[in-house]
Amino acid sequence: MSFRTFDQPNRNGTVANLGRMAGVAHGHAIAPEPKRPMAARHDPIAAQRRIECPGSPHRETIAAQAGGVADGATGGLVPPIHVASTFVRDADNQYRRGYCYGRADNATVRQVENVLTDLEGGAATLLFGSGMAAATTVFLALEPPAHVIAPTAMYWGLHQWLMEEAPRHGLEMTFVDAGSPAALQAAMRPGRTQLVWIETPSNPLWTITDIAAAARIAHDGGALLAVDSTVSTPVLTRPLELGADLVLHSATKYLNGHSDVVAGAIVFGHTARAFDACAKLRGMLGGVLGPFEASQLLRGLRTLHIRVRHQSVTALAIARHFDGHPCIKQILYPGLARHPGHALAARQMQGGFGGMLSMRLRSGEAAAIAAAARMRIWKRATSLGGVESLVEHRSSIEGPGSPCPPDLLRFSTGLENIDDLIADIEQALGN
Ligand SMILES: Cc1ncc(COP(=O)(O)O)c(C=O)c1O
Repeated sequence: MSFRTFDQPNRNGTVANLGRMAGVAHGHAIAPEPKRPMAARHDPIAAQRRIECPGSPHRETIAAQAGGVADGATGGLVPPIHVASTFVRDADNQYRRGYCYGRADNATVRQVENVLTDLEGGAATLLFGSGMAAATTVFLALEPPAHVIAPTAMYWGLHQWLMEEAPRHGLEMTFVDAGSPAALQAAMRPGRTQLVWIETPSNPLWTITDIAAAARIAHDGGALLAVDSTVSTPVLTRPLELGADLVLHSATKYLNGHSDVVAGAIVFGHTARAFDACAKLRGMLGGVLGPFEASQLLRGLRTLHIRVRHQSVTALAIARHFDGHPCIKQILYPGLARHPGHALAARQMQGGFGGMLSMRLRSGEAAAIAAAARMRIWKRATSLGGVESLVEHRSSIEGPGSPCPPDLLRFSTGLENIDDLIADIEQALGN
């Protein structure tokens, strides 16, 4: 694999400064890096963190206490929002306190990054203004020309970018059924494939991809593995522990969980060079998350575990209730024993199968759209992972070329009463 290096400062040196302030170290080996911890960046926020716990804190504790950062000045349990866009230089012209300019990063952003790093068991995290900004940064950070493998069925917005825009940036794409390790293996071009991208469970069919197998295949061919783990969240799956190199989140979804922030994150396992390239691009292109959104996200993360576990219980109850229902042709949910990825999901997802499921209606597309129109508690809206339950006729939003069957409704379970949610679908189906 090969990520870009940005050794050339621009004319006034600003780019080099932004890179340094983001903790960027320059130019390393091009060959796959050995697994080792990344050098710690100068991080005054990390230094303030303290969770008082007799042993190592569990992930729930880290999330609930927002990584242990409080307000040192007042003792406030909730940290302040750092809104400064620029920072004072030291008298000797250095920026020793770790901050230079708000386009590189920000203390509130770093607080959230540190929590996500701990939740995923990673080495570092970068937050962006959306999941798409985070994902496209990974692809733009590859050294072109690069061959990249991605799933045929995945979040459609990113799939479209990979089909339409990525080739303009020197990326040659191969789309495969990523649920099949044999298909992934066959698509590899050793020495040329730089990145294998998977999403599991993947939108909107909830196909499960074997992360450990995909990591072996990618690494054997000299590539890195990136996992879009938006739906699983670190509550259920930790891709880095299974061999992945990068984890992507649309933090708009479960991580924030309240449908009031658009954000994205890349968590890096060990790949200093990938971090360098992505941090540099974020600083140059200006894709960093704003401090207010970061503060909202930190608040959302505090309840992540309880939300995701409850949403998983609800989704399983709904899937079981409608499995075999006369109006339903197929339920797509990895928690059902009949789902082809069930055994793998049971190994790879711990404590639940996630809050997302889809249903295919026997009576076809028009009936699916009409059923969604009759739902009252389920809100007809795109997105997922919030506290309110959403239903979406996915092929309407994905459009031509999408592998989504037209008779499919996608459900994002929220935190409402399970019986209310089931009754609402029943009445919408005409029972
Ligand atoms: C699985 C997945 N990845 C990435 C994205 C893109 O995230 P965002 O909408 O925050 O840009 C989405 C958005 O729906 C998604 O569902």
